[in-house]
Amino acid sequence: MRLLFLGDVVGRPGRSVVARVLPALRSAWQLDCVVVNGENAAGGFGITEAICDDLLGAGADVVTLGNHSFDQREALVFIERQPRLLRPVNFPAGTPGRGATIIEARNGARVLVANVMGRLFMDPLDDPFAVIARTIDECPLGEGCDAILVDMHAEATSEKQALAHFLDGRVSVVVGTHTHVPTADVRLLPGGTAYQSDAGMCGDYQSILGMHPDESIRRFVEKTPGSRLEAAGGEGTLAGLAVEIDDATGLAVKAAAVRIGPHLAEARPAFWEEARA
Ligand code: FE2
Repeated sequence: MRLLFLGDVVGRPGRSVVARVLPALRSAWQLDCVVVNGENAAGGFGITEAICDDLLGAGADVVTLGNHSFDQREALVFIERQPRLLRPVNFPAGTPGRGATIIEARNGARVLVANVMGRLFMDPLDDPFAVIARTIDECPLGEGCDAILVDMHAEATSEKQALAHFLDGRVSVVVGTHTHVPTADVRLLPGGTAYQSDAGMCGDYQSILGMHPDESIRRFVEKTPGSRLEAAGGEGTLAGLAVEIDDATGLAVKAAAVRIGPHLAEARPAFWEEARA
């Protein structure tokens, strides 16, 4: 099974590159399942129903979120009628929406996708380790589903790596989001879980985390109230993680970074590109 995860889509540059490139990747790489983090898709802050529909229409099977889940207030309402949109599973009880879902991949596999948020340098939420363990226990790999992807939306690489090793062998993929910087640590853990500390963002990398530099610099230099952060407006780069999953075990057998666009060194999964040639 072929799974592609795309990191945080930031503003119009992120949405444009996903709309332009993902449909082609979906067919060229014969992807079975695509998960996209969309928590910054609306100008850097949250997601609207129209944008969520666009991401799903471009080829995402599931859209995940994070700390900006409800920056666009309409998400509090439409998330209830959009089962393919996930907010972190460890948000307080009673929060609208859901933190995990099972979808049927193109190859017929049942894929459990879960979104969980870290707590280091983040909001004080429920214990992500206990909550995600409970989620997986309710739907174990090989019993309740054929593959499991966990989007760990967190600031600290230590917390992300701890969660990945905690889940190693029990899930197919643990991929980090939130920092908007792709890390060079894509690997298979000993138990067979594919891992990357951060998938990076789909957005304009000539920026500060996808936002126009001026206001961000000003906030570091001056301590006076300023204007709102605005998403950068240049060309977007796609960033994410490609994973080949063994259909028999649900564990990962190959993993590679994906970077396609003008500002980062290009990276494509050789194991799928060579299959095409
Ligand atoms: Fe975030």
